[in-house]
Amino acid sequence: MFISLSFYRPWICLFICFAFSCWADLVTDTIYLTWQRQPDTTMTIQWISPLQQPQSRIAYCLKDDATTWTEVRGETFKFPQSSKYLIHRVELQGLQPNTDYVFRVIPYQEDYQFRTAPADLKHPIHFVVGGDMYHDGIHLMANTCRQAALTDPLFAIIGGDIAYAVGSARDLFQNIERWITWIKTWHTNMITPDDRLIPVIAAIGNHDVVGHYNQPPYKAAIFSMLFPMPGKQIYNVMDFGSYLSLFLLDSGHANSIAGPQTRWLQTALQARQATTHRFAIYHVPAYPSCRKFHNRQSFAIRRSWVPLFEKGGIQACFEHHDHAYKRTHPLLRNRPHPDGIVYLGDGAWGVEHPRQPRARCIPSYLAKFSPTRHFMVVSLDASQQHFRSINDQGHTIDTYHKTLKTKDLSTIKA
Ligand SMILES: [Fe+2]
Repeated sequence: MFISLSFYRPWICLFICFAFSCWADLVTDTIYLTWQRQPDTTMTIQWISPLQQPQSRIAYCLKDDATTWTEVRGETFKFPQSSKYLIHRVELQGLQPNTDYVFRVIPYQEDYQFRTAPADLKHPIHFVVGGDMYHDGIHLMANTCRQAALTDPLFAIIGGDIAYAVGSARDLFQNIERWITWIKTWHTNMITPDDRLIPVIAAIGNHDVVGHYNQPPYKAAIFSMLFPMPGKQIYNVMDFGSYLSLFLLDSGHANSIAGPQTRWLQTALQARQATTHRFAIYHVPAYPSCRKFHNRQSFAIRRSWVPLFEKGGIQACFEHHDHAYKRTHPLLRNRPHPDGIVYLGDGAWGVEHPRQPRARCIPSYLAKFSPTRHFMVVSLDASQQHFRSINDQGHTIDTYHKTLKTKDLSTIKA
């Protein structure tokens, strides 16, 4: 029996419309911001698409001047270990510091906003920090994201164990759909009250790499692709002018703690002695709140990195992995000291059941401990650091304040 093409045409059109609609949803639901360099003059926009949508094009304009739009082409990458998805990356350069922009992904009509970082600290800034996100139900991560977004941060730092795409250390593959769900949840919830998307930069955790520990960097290809920074070594430093340096370190997952990473850290710290605010972010804690003090990674960090932190003027470290809230006393050579470093953590952004200490007593180096889902807000001005920890209901659970010493302040530009 012959059926003419005209019979199929409406169904073909319907299928194409449905497919295009699904593709558009994936693109517009996965747009997020990150930085590869110079947060005051650049912005990196990324999104996920199906294979059928390979183009990476952005149009953007000043929020205050929507008459002049600029079009920029970017790069398209195959999503590592996936035959379904592409990763798109467009880096906008030559932007104005501390300025709001509007952009859209071509050919879609939805507009989004972002803000560049300021060039200096004439006006205070604040950002949020946390880790261990999509551990349980995605609604737990979403709740904490919404509270974090309400604080109107300039950007967010994640300290690893992001999508838990690698469950067990014996898993041979990443669960790609968990990454997609994480990106969609971030896109939907990390929006400030005035509708800005919140840029994210990240340090790697064990659940972000196949094998968890002591793996070659290619086993963390998805993390590297989703959170790109200069170089391919995964650990890095992000500089905000001369007022803030964030050392994003790999606590033994795709790079050894000792060896090249430690030598790089020593050099990078020496090069930033004139920077006002200096923080380190990594996954496994040097001073764990719940796990054993002498576990292999914690011991290696205390032996290789902590002496460099103390000598190089790191003022606070953000640690994760233990799934509780903690703040240490200021520590110098493992003991409380007024000139020491405060270690804050311990990674419980989206954990359903935060942990209690395994030891009978809470470690003596802890000034504050609470088994609570949380994130931290870090506020900076020219001479002050203020840390506020907030639970997933929006209630403050801890605060800590540090005034910089005169030798630090002498580096601040007028
Ligand atoms: Fe972890």
